[in-house]
Amino acid sequence: MLIKTTPRWAIPERDATPEAIFRQRRALLKSAGAAAAVAMVPGAAHANIFDRLLGKDTPTPDNEVDPSADLYPAPRNEAYQVLRPMTDENLATTYNNFYEFGSHKRIFDAAQALDIRPWTVEIAGLVGKPQVIDIDDLLRSVQLEERVYRLRCVEAWSMVVPWTGFPLSEIVRRAEPQSGARFLKMETFYNPEVAPGQRASWQPWPYVEALTLEEATNPLAFLATGAYGKPLEEQMGAPLRLAVPWKYGFKSGKSLVRFTFTDTMPTTFWMEVGPEEYGFWANVNPEVPHRRWSQATERPLGNDDSDRIPTLLYNGYADEVAGLYAAMDGQRIFY
Ligand code: MTE
Repeated sequence: MLIKTTPRWAIPERDATPEAIFRQRRALLKSAGAAAAVAMVPGAAHANIFDRLLGKDTPTPDNEVDPSADLYPAPRNEAYQVLRPMTDENLATTYNNFYEFGSHKRIFDAAQALDIRPWTVEIAGLVGKPQVIDIDDLLRSVQLEERVYRLRCVEAWSMVVPWTGFPLSEIVRRAEPQSGARFLKMETFYNPEVAPGQRASWQPWPYVEALTLEEATNPLAFLATGAYGKPLEEQMGAPLRLAVPWKYGFKSGKSLVRFTFTDTMPTTFWMEVGPEEYGFWANVNPEVPHRRWSQATERPLGNDDSDRIPTLLYNGYADEVAGLYAAMDGQRIFY
């Protein structure tokens, strides 16, 4: 295998915009948009939302100290850098997709209702070692590292996030897949009592995403447990979410509870919701438009719509992952 020293998307640390400078741009959120977002949320949550949208450093409403807090920040793996400034933490944690808590972007306050302890992760299906692992046992038995990744949402916005976590291949290793296992299905929690979106019975809850085993063991496939040098916040998918940066963001399932190894391609949440628009592969490609909009450019969070940048094939990670699909030319691997 080729060992590259400087991937195309790598930049020296000095060129990344420091988080502190981005934080000064929180004034952006002091806008009519903030007021509109607040109007969507019931009374009790308003105070916290105002604090967050106005950029005050508020603790999470439950005020609980995350039991894994001492594991952060983890050392950065310098092999994973991005040629663009990091997204302001305040933007990344207040503009989210997490349909379990609503189909708009301001779900961060509603998501605090998710109880992230105790939390277990199950490994099941075609494996030699089925098991249930407590999240804290898992976190303390892996080597956490920080990686800066791009995230490109299928809706054509994007961000650059310093995730903390460990390679997804670690789950595969622990599972000891049987020879027939070809796919890894990943499921989000299911609890309609705390997640109002899951009360929509016409949607196929729980949220399911999946990869082939080759994809899951690609070194880029990462399980994030933290971001910005801290444990993940609920709205980002605490306590465990996927980060597969060469695919559209919806492939990166949040708040995962189960990994099932299977011989059949799983039907994912979005394949069921919109089979004409969302497929299994969902690899980023600027030349393959969504049925309703172009994928040629993207709006980095914090930029105006007039300040868009070109989208890159495989979101800039072609050197790392194009080989996975070399034999699949002509198939629907881009949506
Ligand atoms: N995971 C779950 N369980 N539910 C969701 O609605 N949304 C996906 C993905 N993972 C989603 C999810 C989409 S569409 C995107 S773009 C990313 O999460 C957004 O991640 P972020 O909110 O941390 O930016």
